[in-house]
Amino acid sequence: MDRVYEKVLRCRESVRKKVDFTPKAGLVLGSGLGNFAEQIQVEAELAYSEIEGFPVSTVPGHEGRLIFGHLGEMPIVCMKGRVHFYEGYDMTDVVLPVRLIRLLGAEILFLTNAAGGVNPDFRAGDLMLITDQISCFVRNPLIGPNEEELGTRFPDMSAIYDGGLNDVIRTVAGEQGIALKEGVYVQLTGPSFETPAEVRMLRALGADAVGMSTAVEAVAARHAGLRVCGVSCICNQAAGLTENPLCHEEVQEAADRAALPFTKLVKESIRRFR
Ligand code: HPA
Repeated sequence: MDRVYEKVLRCRESVRKKVDFTPKAGLVLGSGLGNFAEQIQVEAELAYSEIEGFPVSTVPGHEGRLIFGHLGEMPIVCMKGRVHFYEGYDMTDVVLPVRLIRLLGAEILFLTNAAGGVNPDFRAGDLMLITDQISCFVRNPLIGPNEEELGTRFPDMSAIYDGGLNDVIRTVAGEQGIALKEGVYVQLTGPSFETPAEVRMLRALGADAVGMSTAVEAVAARHAGLRVCGVSCICNQAAGLTENPLCHEEVQEAADRAALPFTKLVKESIRRFR
């Protein structure tokens, strides 16, 4: 079996052949930030399918791109589109892009996503700074032989989300008049949405928002030594908190409505990261 590290190295090789750019920060775009690339002074772009070994989404119209460029002075690489565990990918492939971002030279990773509000005070359109997470309902992305070149066998997760980066995001939100909630993100595998009983369980466990993507990326990123921060766009109240059944279109629409403040917050925060 090919080692995971070697696979990521091959991806880096494949990128380096086409693009000569060293990012300081990586940004993973979730729903609601689909047009974020318009904010970037773009230097180069690659379709995921051009990168050897990179996981490509099977959903038509979801072909992702890596976008290299600047936000202010900050050199960034932006992932437009991610693959999810529920699509059937191996967990090591789900987090491969995060490891690639690290090996391309990034020190910081900004994760964004769409999530359901588990905290009863949250409403569709709210933004939530992720201060901690619960990832033990999904397969740990570090299972398997440890890739020593990436990180240690038993990495500390007591401060996954970086206090310094969080402070920058809070400051920007305050200055721009963007209401910013804070809370704990829990990841489930999906793709079915939760039942009301599951949502009550998640709330009892201390979760504020639930989603299907980000916690495993954060674990892989911390393992690899990235400083991590994340913001969720609350796209709906989780199952059982309202009478309404959940649907993907509703999630997408709420994400689109929050796009303006979300874009502002992410853009200005990244420009200020040091
Ligand atoms: N549950 C899980 N993932 C989600 C939700 C939800 O309610 N909304 C957006 N992503």
